[in-house]
Amino acid sequence: MSETLVVVGSQWGDEGKGKITDYFATRADMVVRYQGGNNAGHTVVFGGNKYSLQSIPSGIFNPATVNVMGNGMVVNPVSVCEELDRLHSRGITDYKLFISTRAAMVMPWHAMLDGAYEEQKGKDLIGTTKKGIGPAYADKYSRTGLRMGDLLEPDYFRERLEAALEVKNMELKMLGLEPLDADAVYEQYMKLAERLAPMITDTSRLVNDALREDGQRVLFEGAQGMMLCIEHGTYPFVTSSSPSASSVPVGAGVAPKWIRTAVGVAKAYCTRVGSGPFPTELHDEIGDGIRERGHEYGTVTGRPRRIGWFDAVVGRYTAELAGITHWAVMLLDVLSGLDTIKICVAYDLDGRQIQSPPSTIASLSRCKPVYIELPGWKEDITGIKEFDNLPENAKAYVRKLEEITGVPVGMISVGPDREQTIIVDPELNKF
Ligand code: GDP
Ligand code: IMO
Ligand code: MG
Repeated sequence: MSETLVVVGSQWGDEGKGKITDYFATRADMVVRYQGGNNAGHTVVFGGNKYSLQSIPSGIFNPATVNVMGNGMVVNPVSVCEELDRLHSRGITDYKLFISTRAAMVMPWHAMLDGAYEEQKGKDLIGTTKKGIGPAYADKYSRTGLRMGDLLEPDYFRERLEAALEVKNMELKMLGLEPLDADAVYEQYMKLAERLAPMITDTSRLVNDALREDGQRVLFEGAQGMMLCIEHGTYPFVTSSSPSASSVPVGAGVAPKWIRTAVGVAKAYCTRVGSGPFPTELHDEIGDGIRERGHEYGTVTGRPRRIGWFDAVVGRYTAELAGITHWAVMLLDVLSGLDTIKICVAYDLDGRQIQSPPSTIASLSRCKPVYIELPGWKEDITGIKEFDNLPENAKAYVRKLEEITGVPVGMISVGPDREQTIIVDPELNKF
């Protein structure tokens, strides 16, 4: 039997998925990204070095691991090449990377439109990463998009490009932007194709072959977080894909029977970048302190992240929807030093207590968190390797998160480094 594990963001992104994926990737035969694109920023820290990945899977540092960018992703070939250059300049040259022929391709007009739509929204802007993710997924679903495999068939690529540009140029002009020249885009993308062609293949074949092989370990790396999910998140302040473990079968091209264990990555508090409701948001010095101690500034855009208390309403909701079997509680070290710590256990909506997020942001914006308060701890916990050695109040906090969300904590992270990881449930070591 092969083993699989899904790493899912369970809040608003940036929970530490890169760190957890890298932790398991050291023993994975394959790491597969199944949604999103270079809107992601996944940080991996080991051996005194820090790396930031956007669309390349976090298993890239292990030469023996096969890394797959699945069909559910939107792939920007320019950004993949830049990312590879950055890795090469840091000495990461020995790796295995494959890109799905069926992955949607991000084209130059996507980022232009992303920026223009945001501008049109004025103060109601989503605060996207402006990488063209929404417009690229929109083209995919309106069946006008180009795909990575098109790069392998230049005549077909040209045909699809010209057909797309006929409409896209009208839209660009309407928005006051410069139309694009088909020849120039063709030349640019054919050049990128020279480099990427050896990596572009039928990746679901690769993943299924691995899954069928005894003893293979296949890790699925989610991007973003469940509250940014296009289906279940705080719509319209969401991204354009679904990070759920339920997206793995579609986004990687495998049967649902392979998905059993999903680690929900959750900060010990909450953060959010970009606009949209955030019930437990802190606008005080406690939030500022957490931002500084946790270095909470975006990996992709450098924007300061908004900070809030742990939201167990979100925790219960996303655990159920994303199929989370274990929590990885991240950045617990950042809470050291606080006198008391709050956990949101319900929302008060117009005087009524509710247990799950309402569907509209109009209602969600009116939700007031109902808190319980726990005593904090002062000790530096960044060197602790065993759950039992954590301060009593830290242990009680973690146990409380389990109790309120109904999902066991499988692991705890007490620092950015690969080594600063505590395995709580030995079951996870099976992977
Ligand atoms: P991702 O998008 O989910 O992979 O998360 P990001 O990499 O965008 O953001 C997580 C940040 O927290 C990164 O800077 C990590 O290096 C850092 N980090 C991860 N785990 C820990 C932890 O346990 N403690 C601290 N202090 N930092 C952590
Ligand atoms: P990782 O994988 C945090 C947010 C953006 C914006 C909204 C839509 O690093 O956790 P998009 O560019 O996707 O159309 O933006 O989603 N967003 C993220 N926030 N982490 C991410 O990825 C994100 N990817 C998108 O800030 O609010
Ligand atoms: Mg990130």
